[in-house]
Amino acid sequence: MAIKILVSCLVFLCCFADGWTRCSRSRPHKACGRSMTSNRGTFKSPGFPRPYLSADTLEDRVCTWLITLPSGKGIKLLLYGYDFAFERLTYRTHMDELQVFRDEMCGEESRIRQYQGNDTEYDIIHIPSNTACIRFFRRTTQNHSHTGFSMSYEAVDDNGECGTNGSSISSISSQEGYIRSPGYPAASYPQHINCTWVVQVSPSQTVQVEFLDFQLSYIYSCDFAPDFVQIGSSNRTYELKYCDQDTPSIFTSKKNMVWLFFKTGRWRNRGFLVYYKAIGGSPRPDISGADYWTSWPRSDWRYFEETRWSSTRGFRENSGPIDAFAVSRCSSTSLQSTVYLILAILSSLTLIPGSLLCWTTFLDSNR
Ligand SMILES: *[C@@H]1O[C@H](CO)[C@@H](O)[C@H](O)[C@H]1NC(C)=O
Ligand SMILES: *[C@@H]1O[C@H](CO)[C@@H](O)[C@H](O)[C@H]1NC(C)=O
Ligand SMILES: *[C@@H]1O[C@H](CO)[C@@H](O)[C@H](O)[C@H]1NC(C)=O
Ligand SMILES: *[C@@H]1O[C@H](CO)[C@@H](O)[C@H](O)[C@H]1NC(C)=O
Ligand SMILES: *[C@@H]1O[C@H](CO)[C@@H](O)[C@H](O)[C@H]1NC(C)=O
Repeated sequence: MAIKILVSCLVFLCCFADGWTRCSRSRPHKACGRSMTSNRGTFKSPGFPRPYLSADTLEDRVCTWLITLPSGKGIKLLLYGYDFAFERLTYRTHMDELQVFRDEMCGEESRIRQYQGNDTEYDIIHIPSNTACIRFFRRTTQNHSHTGFSMSYEAVDDNGECGTNGSSISSISSQEGYIRSPGYPAASYPQHINCTWVVQVSPSQTVQVEFLDFQLSYIYSCDFAPDFVQIGSSNRTYELKYCDQDTPSIFTSKKNMVWLFFKTGRWRNRGFLVYYKAIGGSPRPDISGADYWTSWPRSDWRYFEETRWSSTRGFRENSGPIDAFAVSRCSSTSLQSTVYLILAILSSLTLIPGSLLCWTTFLDSNR
């Protein structure tokens, strides 16, 4: 009998302790960087929204987050303001800094953003690539009271494919994404191509098209341009034609469709990057595969983005992102913990007095 009690007690305690540590260990504490592969995610400086500490170790001085998505996806990053420390010394100034790179190599040539000091406005960073690298450099040596940053990302469709020598039509039905000239941004577009992209959204919506970068070969008149982009709400009536290097203004379709046509001649240049999104109508369907955002309603996210809240208001009034992060990480493993617990209880059911004893012992020791 005594042995039976002892065994059931041990089994019970092991299982419970395992579930317990799994849950508490997965809370994001001071984790400095990680790799992410899901369609959405959120990450932040150590301790955010509390002030971050000075780095204890040399490795801790650079936190690196890597995002890797399947090919055909681009990345939309949101930075909800930032607040970084700096130290003025006699000969130089140490600035803590956040850097964003458009690939996973984190090299100087692929760096697209650098942030120092502080700002409360949020920033959207469009990356027409399925990989990105975000680095946080803690160069200051003392503890200050600066909160760091919080960022989230989302996968969007990336359409950079086009047939060479001949026409090619790509049909797109996503609610937002990138369209880019073939090869952009790593290489110039190919010669002699005819590419058409058709974006079609639900009947009650329209499509907004924003050119983020536009660099075609130079010619004095658009009428004779060998390289040009045409855009319109149908393929019969392209409303606008763009050439040269003047970034076109935002285009909004009259119907639920946008046709974008790109033709090149024998010259080459950097090309273009377009961000499109559906406007109005029914809300977008949710993207599956989110790691952390399960408890943050999708509608809040859209609202957050479209009303252009400042980061301070966004976070103070809607602390969703931070809490949801901690809670959902824990609850995904607490299912496991529950299974362990039930196993533990079942295994000791034959000896209820024994497991009750364990319970009280366990609870007492954790008080
Ligand atoms: C924000 O940056 C400005 C300089 O750009 C600085 O004067 C100010 O003290 C900073 N605020 C905080 C809270 O660090
Ligand atoms: C910063 O604060 C942490 C925790 O309070 C402490 O361990 C660390 O030594 C401090 N660093 C410096 C440089 O004072
Ligand atoms: C495309 O056509 C041009 C001339 O029309 C030719 O020089 C080139 O080799 C072709 N490229 C491919 C990939 O077929
Ligand atoms: C490319 O587009 C032009 C203009 O619409 C068209 O006349 C031409 O036939 C197309 N070329 C090919 C190879 O499809
Ligand atoms: C426009 O697209 C329709 C199909 O959506 C097609 O039948 C028609 O031939 C196209 N017209 C031109 C000029 O490409």
